[in-house]
Amino acid sequence: MSESRPESDTIPQGIALSPFNEDFRNDPYPILKQVQSATRVLHDKPLKRYLYTYHDDVRDILRDKDMWTDPRKGNPGTFMQMLFQLREDEEPSMLLMDEPGHRRLRSLVSASFTPSAVERWRERAREVVTRVLDDINSNEFDLITRFAAPVPTIIIAELLGIDTAMHDTFKSWSDDAVKVAFNPFASEDSKALGQAAGEKLDQFFDEEIDRRQQNPGSDIISDMLRAEEDGDRLSRDEMIRQCNLLLIAGNVTTTDLIGNGTRALLEHPDQLQKLRDDPSLIGQAIEEMLRYDSPVMNAGRIANRDIDIGGCPVHKGESLTVSLSIANRDPLIYPNPDSFDIEREDGHHQSFGGGRHLCLGAHLARVEAQEAILGLLDRYPNLRASEKGHVHHAIPAFRGMSEYWVTT
Ligand code: HEM
Repeated sequence: MSESRPESDTIPQGIALSPFNEDFRNDPYPILKQVQSATRVLHDKPLKRYLYTYHDDVRDILRDKDMWTDPRKGNPGTFMQMLFQLREDEEPSMLLMDEPGHRRLRSLVSASFTPSAVERWRERAREVVTRVLDDINSNEFDLITRFAAPVPTIIIAELLGIDTAMHDTFKSWSDDAVKVAFNPFASEDSKALGQAAGEKLDQFFDEEIDRRQQNPGSDIISDMLRAEEDGDRLSRDEMIRQCNLLLIAGNVTTTDLIGNGTRALLEHPDQLQKLRDDPSLIGQAIEEMLRYDSPVMNAGRIANRDIDIGGCPVHKGESLTVSLSIANRDPLIYPNPDSFDIEREDGHHQSFGGGRHLCLGAHLARVEAQEAILGLLDRYPNLRASEKGHVHHAIPAFRGMSEYWVTT
């Protein structure tokens, strides 16, 4: 690792480190590697943030319990403020909430997402995968729109207890809302669509909560209505915000995991064969897919104090961006970091973030992806990439495809 030279202008920075740079969009790893080998901390002046690429720095920042995520605490104009434009009076979602509000909210909703709670949904996830596969009636198809996108949206709709007849409408609102959620560069048209979809979803969830109050079931909305901690309960607004967050945090990410993971397998036939020969490797295989091509590229924190990280001082209120993608390929930690090996011995990764904000849906995402990929491979013994190729989407901080053509 070289000395920290955070001011260097020769290192890629700003938009060059975003999917608006075509090279980065298609393959961000050589560019991120260039940053990683040039400096321990990059002061990315165009985007007003500090970027960390080493595994241990990323881990320490994520686990620092005092750091903030509420963008309103950032210095004016810094990256987190630009990315999440929250009004002063707006309640942020859990992802952007600091203590004590974050702990309270998380403890009221976490019961639905523990490994044992999620394991109970596995059979339902498998059924959804089978249904979505049954609807594919062509031997060359776009894996994203026909499979990787519908699977997580339908699963979350089922977990929320939403009537099957509403699934298509729900999916189209969710798609429109998600497209703009993390994208400050979205066009005015898609922002308007996103806002309209958000309003419809709010109203829809409000009505669903009424229905569940009258007729509780074994779904996440009913769990939220039942949840109580020391006499405290979720308000109606909090429940609606939480339902929205599940869509926004869970859909694109899991779609991208299924898409990136399938592509990694099809591009590494030896690994694909290993998994076909021994499907019990699926747990490890999904972890390696998460490490190798992380669906969420970055996570963010705001320094709550003047602090020195990696030999570079940062001031209170500055934005810290951690690159999960390249921390997962840190050569100091992983032997042959760029190889895809589903039996990798130390296959841990930071793709679900860490510390207080560690992904609430991590177990659910794992179950969905395991069932999706096993179901897909089982249905198509000769699955391979088609000549029609693939297209990466351009959602900042996310890594995935909008199209991936396969043939059976
Ligand atoms: C492969 C799929 C997924 C990936 C890669 C992913 C990744 C992440 C990451 C990186 C964070 C931020 C962690 C941090 O700042 O330290 C996060 C937070 C979160 N994720 Fe996920 N996620 C996935 C799926 C899901 C699903 C399926 C759900 C729920 C349905 C979900 C719900 C959440 C929530 C609620 C948070 C905020 C937690 C908090 O702030 O306490 N995620 N996720």
